[in-house]
Amino acid sequence: MSLIKRLVKEKIVEKTPIWLMRQAGRYMSEYKSVKRKSKDFLEMCYTPDIASDITMQPIRKFDFDAAIIFSDILVIPHALGVGLEFIKNKGPVMPRFSFEKKDIDDFMSKEVGNSLDSVYEAIKKTRAMLSKDKELIGFAGAPWTLFSYMTEGGGSKNFDRANLALIKNKEFSIEVMKKLTNSVADHLIKQIESGVDVVQIFDSWAGEITVDKYDEFIIEPAREIVKKIREKYKHVPIICFPRKSSFRYKDYVERVKPDIISIDQDLPLKWVTENLADKAIIQGNLDPMILIDEKEKIRSQAKRIIQELGEGKFIFNLGRGVSKETPIENVQFLVDVVRGA
Ligand code: CP3
Repeated sequence: MSLIKRLVKEKIVEKTPIWLMRQAGRYMSEYKSVKRKSKDFLEMCYTPDIASDITMQPIRKFDFDAAIIFSDILVIPHALGVGLEFIKNKGPVMPRFSFEKKDIDDFMSKEVGNSLDSVYEAIKKTRAMLSKDKELIGFAGAPWTLFSYMTEGGGSKNFDRANLALIKNKEFSIEVMKKLTNSVADHLIKQIESGVDVVQIFDSWAGEITVDKYDEFIIEPAREIVKKIREKYKHVPIICFPRKSSFRYKDYVERVKPDIISIDQDLPLKWVTENLADKAIIQGNLDPMILIDEKEKIRSQAKRIIQELGEGKFIFNLGRGVSKETPIENVQFLVDVVRGA
């Protein structure tokens, strides 16, 4: 049995597993070289040979313990007919969701159908290339984070539109969120059926929701997605990442019951060991900015995390994705430190 599955089952393994969110990406010259030859980011996501090759790049280079399939959280709204473009230095841009009746009816009638088949194809190809002792991680965005991108028309600073929609267009927002919840569960289940060993749900903007809405729109959808996956695939570990949830991480873990909880860098590790560590395996939480800093800082911060969370008892990762400014040798240095060099 591979490392992360064993960790979930036995709560301790002989070495601390390590992989990094956004481990495939612009900090790697191999990635940039594929990108130069491709039309755009979405073409890279939707071409199985390219997506599986990019997924393997950081494994070949750093020998991480797990690979995460190269794709994006926004492929779900895209598959549901929402326009999507990735613009240089700006990130994803989508037409801002209108709450006109016609657009609502139109959105509700759409189905994901076969539009994400290329993702499942990429998973099959990658699983065939990846050595058996390494996990392949599938993923999806959580409903609130997808809803935020759809209502904001892309990234946002304050998420006012998304939060406003939950107040002013509450009924429709609930419908959209339900549709996203079902689509996310289906997408994760199909990824499992195509060969991923573990799945991660990214709620990158969980910390931005209005406080009184956290239960209904962060915890409940995640609970439902986890339940749907477990009904079919009991033994597939589920990682949840409700980023920047602060002390609400405790309620989240108690009610969603993920196998693994991914934590951002804001949480004090003493609080984590007292409130979360007996309920789920911890994944995290080096600040990605530290990875750009001096080597001695990387070493001391990585060691502090291992010391506090316990060698072999958690999954080493970052508090969010690798930054594109990260020097490649720092990533190798981090892997060496975590592996005890
Ligand atoms: O290596 C991996 O982690 C797997 C692939 C992956 C990508 N996006 C590839 C990507 C994963 C797991 C994601 C998740 C994702 N996508 C999230 C949640 C995690 C997070 O980072 O907060 C979010 C919010 C998105 C949406 C998204 N995709 C944004 C906001 C952006 C632009 C900002 C940025 O960092 O470039 C993307 C583009 C994107 N997704 C890139 C990659 C490698 C960069 C594309 C490029 O310019 O080459």
